[in-house]
Amino acid sequence: MAEFFIGILSGTSMDGIDAALVDFPPQPALAASYSLKFPEDLRAELLALAVPGDNEIDRLGRADVRLGRLFAQAINDLLARAKVSPAQVRAIGSHGQTIRHRPGGAAPFTLQIGDPNVIAAATGIPVVADFRRKDMALGGQGAPLVPAFHDAVFRQAGTDRVIVNIGGIANLTVLPGDAARPILGFDTGPGNTLLDGWSRRILREPMDRNGAFAAKGRVQPGLLAGFLHDPYFSQPPPKSTGPEYFSADWLQRHLDKAGELAPADVQATLLALTARSISDSILQQPGLHRPDVFVCGGGAHNGALMRSLAENLPGAAVAPTDNLGVPVEWVEAMAFAWLARQRLHAKAGNCPLVTGATRPAVLGGIWLPG
Ligand SMILES: Nc1ncnc2c1ncn2[C@@H]1O[C@H](COP(=O)(O)OP(=O)(O)O)[C@@H](O)[C@H]1O
Ligand SMILES: [Mg+2]
Repeated sequence: MAEFFIGILSGTSMDGIDAALVDFPPQPALAASYSLKFPEDLRAELLALAVPGDNEIDRLGRADVRLGRLFAQAINDLLARAKVSPAQVRAIGSHGQTIRHRPGGAAPFTLQIGDPNVIAAATGIPVVADFRRKDMALGGQGAPLVPAFHDAVFRQAGTDRVIVNIGGIANLTVLPGDAARPILGFDTGPGNTLLDGWSRRILREPMDRNGAFAAKGRVQPGLLAGFLHDPYFSQPPPKSTGPEYFSADWLQRHLDKAGELAPADVQATLLALTARSISDSILQQPGLHRPDVFVCGGGAHNGALMRSLAENLPGAAVAPTDNLGVPVEWVEAMAFAWLARQRLHAKAGNCPLVTGATRPAVLGGIWLPG
């Protein structure tokens, strides 16, 4: 019997909330979708909470509740538009908003906020949340979690495929056409986060639409080489990262060394960094035979970035996931609907080879409205 799940998240771009209503007959199909922008003050607070600051506990407590309310509002609006009642939805998979991700060190941790109690109370629907910490408790990175979903919906016998998700951070999933070979996946590094940051700083715009600003500049080889020299790029997987690492400070340290540069040249070089760190990661995969590369996430809307990626991967076809029937904007939200379903069916949600966890595990807790 068909069953509805909702997946909801706000990604590291902090551009807003994406909610997807997903039907499982049992292959996941997008039934409806809805996006909600953050009020600018909440967005500013979330960005501020992503780096160490003053009075963090109070600020985090308030943001947790405000975000929970906004998630609930997005879900209620989604259901009203789709004319689906809460009773028809088995569960909401809520990723939350990551405000800190520190997978290294003696006490690794990851923190997603958007209180699931608030969401359950305001929607009347069970909520599955806190997806990442079980994987971390088992020695994993807690990220990326989307590869298991990519495996379930995008794998094709006989053809090697790579799925690239270009959000704030970019991650990829290798789906071998040979069923005997395992899937792989990891965060490749910055997706849009540095491009957005520079665009905000120079253009006062939240993004470089279609990469038009980058297209006005010229890639600076010395700066690009300096970027790519960062140890993250040569670190073997499992690995994951966040905008707290690839931050405005990270960029500034490189710019200080580079001397005077035109702002458009910096943007062009940042775009080249995103494209190169993704394409290098793909080219370094052993045994991949002319893979078909499918891109999702907001970065798929950046024409200049898509062209740069295709140029770096001669012989490979580079296309948006729309060509596989899943719109680029909704892959990640659908993945969290799928992960919620995995949780309710007591099935694993992680890929130990991807995250580095010691074993497959059922991910997330359940918050009931009753
Ligand atoms: N038309 C566009 N041109 C260039 N970049 C875009 C466009 N649309 C979206 N993006 C980029 O995609 C980002 C949002 O992508 P998204 O997949 O939502 O990331 P996240 O999961 O981190 O929130 C924006 O911040 C922006 O950088
Ligand atoms: Mg987003």
